[in-house]
Amino acid sequence: MDKRRISSTSASGSPKAVLFDAFGTLFDVHSVSLLAEQLYAGQGDALSRLWRDKQIEYTQLLTHEGGTHYQPFWAVTQAALRYAAAQLGLPLGETQERRLMNQYRALSAFPENREVLQALKAQGVVTGILSNGDPEMLAVAVRSAGLSTWLDHVISVDAVRRYKPHPEAYALGPKSTGMAARDILFVSGNSWDALGATWYGFNTLWVNRGDRPAEQIGPPPTRTGSSLRSVLTFFHSI
Ligand code: LAC
Repeated sequence: MDKRRISSTSASGSPKAVLFDAFGTLFDVHSVSLLAEQLYAGQGDALSRLWRDKQIEYTQLLTHEGGTHYQPFWAVTQAALRYAAAQLGLPLGETQERRLMNQYRALSAFPENREVLQALKAQGVVTGILSNGDPEMLAVAVRSAGLSTWLDHVISVDAVRRYKPHPEAYALGPKSTGMAARDILFVSGNSWDALGATWYGFNTLWVNRGDRPAEQIGPPPTRTGSSLRSVLTFFHSI
């Protein structure tokens, strides 16, 4: 298969499986900003944003030269928090770090998630997560958001020690579901992730929750929406 080809939907016109990115898509990474604000008045938002940006930057750095420098997402998240706090000049003692990291374990889920997953399952669509998160982080996040029942697959890139947007990370989707990339809809709230998935050959939905500009490189996602509900526009029967 030519992985760079932009795929169409399956013969029925609808995807057979929907794979979701986790952090920033199902789970609100910026829900940590409330605790961050309590700990560092006036800096909660800045810490949350810088923490997230550095976390993603580290995943991309660690995927340089394949899996040689790989570290699990939990360790990456901790390192990124330390960096962000240092950059903002915020004191990060053991207690503050533990509280912020614990908060990251149980991020809030976006409110519409459950109804969308329920609607997909009612139609017999295969559902799953395909995430940079390590297996333990994903298991805890899914359980604490009460989403286990609605997800057939929880796939972590840890299996290939390469972070998205490396094609080997996206390849876990077809491998785990047994479906072709063109039959899978990949959904992400992260525009770079939607782009990587489009390059890989998935149908893609970018959930642009923050009203951000589109990426200025690469092909656009198949569709762009403002909430997870836009997933349902790919299914005529729902
Ligand atoms: C994930 C990262 C992108 O969940 O947040 O894969």
